[in-house]
Amino acid sequence: IALPSHPPALYPSFLAVAPKDILPDLKYPEGFLFGVASAAYQVEGAVMEEGKGPSVWDWASRQPGAVTDNTTADVVDLHYFLYKEDVARIAALGVNSHSFSVSWARIFPFGAADSPVNQQGLDHYADVIETHLKSNITPVVTLFHWDTPLALAAYYGGFTSPQIVDDFVHYAKTVFTAYNGSVHTWYTFNEPQVYCAQVGSFPFNLSFAPGINEQNAQFQCSYNLLKAHAGAVKAFREMGITGEIAFKSADYIGMPWRANNTEDMEAVERNAAFNIGVFADPVYTTGDWPQILKDTLPPDVLPRLTEQESKEILGTADFFAIDAYRTYWNAAPPEGIDACVNNTSDPLWPGCFLELMNDFNTGWSSGPASDPLTPWLQATPQFLRPSFKRLHERWPTSKIYLSEFGFTQPFEGVRNPQVLFQLTEDPERTNYYMTYLGELLLSIHEDGIPVQGAFCWAIMDNAEWNSGLSARFGIQYVNYSSPTLERSYKRSAFALADFFEAHL
Ligand code: NOJ
Repeated sequence: IALPSHPPALYPSFLAVAPKDILPDLKYPEGFLFGVASAAYQVEGAVMEEGKGPSVWDWASRQPGAVTDNTTADVVDLHYFLYKEDVARIAALGVNSHSFSVSWARIFPFGAADSPVNQQGLDHYADVIETHLKSNITPVVTLFHWDTPLALAAYYGGFTSPQIVDDFVHYAKTVFTAYNGSVHTWYTFNEPQVYCAQVGSFPFNLSFAPGINEQNAQFQCSYNLLKAHAGAVKAFREMGITGEIAFKSADYIGMPWRANNTEDMEAVERNAAFNIGVFADPVYTTGDWPQILKDTLPPDVLPRLTEQESKEILGTADFFAIDAYRTYWNAAPPEGIDACVNNTSDPLWPGCFLELMNDFNTGWSSGPASDPLTPWLQATPQFLRPSFKRLHERWPTSKIYLSEFGFTQPFEGVRNPQVLFQLTEDPERTNYYMTYLGELLLSIHEDGIPVQGAFCWAIMDNAEWNSGLSARFGIQYVNYSSPTLERSYKRSAFALADFFEAHL
């Protein structure tokens, strides 16, 4: 395939004029949630405090070499104890929502339905929620952000076992009952595709269950997780919990490498099927796995859904939530595109995608691109609108949340870690947020996409899973060497505050 020449970047410079100045009259719709996001493991610390049990990540982060900088999240931001200050700090920015997760192992230290509940854990989140409400910050709660109670992983292999379904549903019911009326918007699962893709893989081989081989673990996990999601939503509705519920999907819809090329459009669809459709088709449109998955994966790899299961899964979401950080090029299988890599989430996936590289070294977000194919390409705001259009056509819903988007930079490197001023000066992240939010406004106003919320990842620097503290996503800098774990707003936080004020 001869490579077409790249279109010129729409956002050639990180110092481009912020959309706030270009679109002064466009407002977000009534009731729009303008939020920041976090997750229990990544910000709370206090991993052994107040009755919490260990999670798979508390274990994994202790395995030598598992986390890039060998940091654990034992302390990180100590948000578990500093939440009042943190809420005050985000309220000061004019943020009106915070999407955070409850740690399952704080509520059920041993995970299982027939194990004791930890009242201190329940009381803790009750106060966290109350604190948000008092500051007029809408709490958005995720039940599962990857931190499976370690006991369940050790006992039966966590999400690779069907036993997880009842345990999760019991946990969900406990949390619904505790916070019914205080929380309106709920997510069952965060990015299930990402979690399940790593269940059986290095460096975190979390699938201890005998008899489940690694290749199968991903889809066993997907199958069990989907049933756990459906079970929790069924309980939510039967219990008459007020509010709305869905899961939070990972990923963007890709862009065809060659515009209007049928083969590349098919690659876009294949990529979307494996990355989004795997959970979104069963829940939103068909009650079943995407056809391409069934054509590609034999039943011993991808358990088939029975008619009864399909019925129970279809319709178990009140809105669509997507963590859309960036997009990819999708192209028809290789033939000459060197940079074409396999879809990492499935070795059998027949196609390729070209990741739009943009972080200095992790491939995330933006910066002078290290990918020789896309040297001109920085962040990808120019693709937000077409991507959201396809998303909305493919899985139509009456409400969409951009449930996470954000930008990382490595801690070391370009910046001098000694100088706070430099650490909080983040023109690249600022530009990322301004351009994305501008495109989002256009997506709502020009394209009619019903986006009702946008959540910046992250509230502050935090433990980025296996990258530890080396990847910084925060709109607040955290000084991990200071005894108070001092937070400082980055320039992007101030820009967001202005943007919220101008467009809400
Ligand atoms: C999405 C995940 O939900 C979150 O936990 C992670 O930190 C961000 N992506 C950035 O990688």
